[in-house]
Amino acid sequence: MPYKDEQLHEEKVFKDPVHRYVHVQDRVIWDLIATPEFQRLRRIKQLGTSYLTFHGAEHSRFNHSLGVYEIIRRIIGNFENRDDWNDDERLLCLCAALLHDLGHGPFSHSFEKAFKLDHEHFTQQIILGDTHIHKILERVETGFSRKVADVIDKTYEDKLVVSLISSQIDADRMDYLQRDAYFTGVSYGHFDMERILRVMRPIEDQVVIKSSGMHAVEDYIMSRYQMYWQVYFHPVTRSAEVILSKILHRAKYLFENNYTFKLKPFHFTSFFKEDVGLTDYLKLDESIVFYYFQLWQEEDDAILRDLCERFMNRRLFKYIEFNPNLQMKEWKELSQLFEEAGINPDYYLEVDSSSDLPYDFYRPGEEDERLPINLLLPDGRLKELSRNSDIVEAISGKKRTDHKLYFPGDLLAGLHNNDPVKQRIMELLNLEQSKGEGKNAD
Ligand code: NI
Repeated sequence: MPYKDEQLHEEKVFKDPVHRYVHVQDRVIWDLIATPEFQRLRRIKQLGTSYLTFHGAEHSRFNHSLGVYEIIRRIIGNFENRDDWNDDERLLCLCAALLHDLGHGPFSHSFEKAFKLDHEHFTQQIILGDTHIHKILERVETGFSRKVADVIDKTYEDKLVVSLISSQIDADRMDYLQRDAYFTGVSYGHFDMERILRVMRPIEDQVVIKSSGMHAVEDYIMSRYQMYWQVYFHPVTRSAEVILSKILHRAKYLFENNYTFKLKPFHFTSFFKEDVGLTDYLKLDESIVFYYFQLWQEEDDAILRDLCERFMNRRLFKYIEFNPNLQMKEWKELSQLFEEAGINPDYYLEVDSSSDLPYDFYRPGEEDERLPINLLLPDGRLKELSRNSDIVEAISGKKRTDHKLYFPGDLLAGLHNNDPVKQRIMELLNLEQSKGEGKNAD
């Protein structure tokens, strides 16, 4: 039997808190899960710094990847005998689902920004480069790894396959919304996935939803909207992220200025040089990052030491609402005052802006162009979701942005109350003099 058709003697199951069980029958899938590149995802948290806000959010990209695989397995199980579905694409869909987040590194977003990295680039590299994953995929058939990479990159010719993995209602989102809700413990993020899976239909090059399932989809869109604002953009999580990225910038700055670290930061060297090869990239997981942050608490550099101590012990920055577009003057004055007070504004003052567009109809040619969710009417016609649903219409195309200014409340509180610099800072931050706190990070 060719490798691609090989089935396990006995089906393997993973116990999963969200989907109950994840089923594996294909030898290829089992082998992919066993590779070091895939096992590495156990050491990358799905939600980065969110565990400092929601202590349950310690789940990994490994969990999520298995979950996306399981959802795809169920969807295409339903598609099996439908006209527009080509079952030869089955294994390709399963592999792409399993591997779609393979290139994520530790605390993805902060690392990507600090060292100019792109996890999608590394996902492609792991699939196409000299890796265990690559060898397994090429055993399926020559050129199979390219196909998997193309599906994940959304360039694969069969758009139906692409839309299963990435669209406005795809297996990736359906998994992370439920999983992140489960592990954070919030009451948002729940929707009737079983129902959505039952009403999904493959029509030509897209997945559509039978109109009788519209309300389940409304629920899904709303839960996505709420999860973004309640969990993903939580201001405390962002405070931890600000500190994390300041640590990385400080460490890089010190490295570039020939500072002598007590222990040479071997694992970071290629990151500091912004010349990261695949081997170095795969070595840096969150356990290594924590190891260095632990060590750097004993460094001579006061800023690096303090920032690491903050991150490890959750002594986060406070925050206030602050719109940099409208408050440029205040921003400049604050930087100046921080400088005068002996608090380096490059590391202790930051504006973070987060925005989300919960759903959008099709706007061809626009920068953030997205394929819409189409409903399948009983007479066989398709109708775009927001034209049928008042609830979805109300939030369609509406981008919401939130700006926050982050600063170390404890350092400000430590300044002398009679100090005019402190008084002016407090005024600008709209804080009461004696408290010096701002919104508490909790
Ligand atoms: Ni994902």
